[in-house]
Amino acid sequence: MYIKSPLNYTGGKFKILEPVFQAFPADIRTFVDVFAGGFNIGINAEAETIICNDQINYLIEMFQMFQSTEIHELLERIRDIISTYQLTQQNKDGYYALRSDYNQTRDLTKLFVLTCYAFNHQIRFNNSHEFNSPFGRNRSSFNSNIERNLTRFCLALQKKNIQFTNRDFTELDYSKLGPEDLVYCDPPYLISTGNYNDGNRGFKDWKEKEERELLDLLDRLNQKGIRFALSNVFYHKGLSNELLIEWSRKYRIHYIDKTYSNCNYQFKERDAVTVEVLITNY
Ligand SMILES: C[S@@+](CC[C@H](N)C(=O)[O-])C[C@H]1O[C@@H](n2cnc3c(N)ncnc32)[C@H](O)[C@@H]1O
Repeated sequence: MYIKSPLNYTGGKFKILEPVFQAFPADIRTFVDVFAGGFNIGINAEAETIICNDQINYLIEMFQMFQSTEIHELLERIRDIISTYQLTQQNKDGYYALRSDYNQTRDLTKLFVLTCYAFNHQIRFNNSHEFNSPFGRNRSSFNSNIERNLTRFCLALQKKNIQFTNRDFTELDYSKLGPEDLVYCDPPYLISTGNYNDGNRGFKDWKEKEERELLDLLDRLNQKGIRFALSNVFYHKGLSNELLIEWSRKYRIHYIDKTYSNCNYQFKERDAVTVEVLITNY
């Protein structure tokens, strides 16, 4: 049974873990999750070493805190915060008081509790790196599902050999990797806007320049015999990513929903479909 990230991350891959993992090789020495986000993929990987990277430092620091804290202690701290701010699905003032305190103190447990009560559980910052997700009235809370997901996630973080880095993907050190390793990339999609690439989050944006840099990087890894897997979309809401479609012809394309694999470019309901793919060089 797969572990689900306790963060409801925009672009999270929990729903497609099965086809993605089916396309992964069985023998992996180092697994690099370059754009970890909620870390749904990396946490489920079986490898000697798993590297968790993302450009959002708060996310990586929160995972490091999860790794170094006993689960019962973490749950106690979460309950203390809930009771101090009297958090419920209706208590808007309590949520905003916590949000304002987090933005002063940057306490990582407070950040996690905020995501539990935030609208759509979103983890979102403004240009000054202040957490700015609104309250998730009548919808969001630290419920039993999140508690179970958090517990399983933390236990796996503590059991597996997971190392954290907080770099731009162009600055990661790929020089020690070899053919036994797998570099997994789940970048923001050029043709859809997540809340981490709308240009207003104080973190680097994702535009055609970054897309090209990533595709060049994957070509270089391929030349060195290093395996890679890239998650992306060819089509989404009437848009197509021609740069990616053209580039991918050199490699192997796994259609996540197999019904789209035979009718590549002529969709009757083109505006309605999202064609998700995993592109691999093995
Ligand atoms: C689609 S999400 C990953 C979702 C993840 N696979 C999951 O299942 O939760 C993309 C991630 O890439 C990160 N990112 C965006 N630009 C980046 C860059 N230049 N270098 C490293 N990470 C970046 C974003 O912060 C975001 O967390």
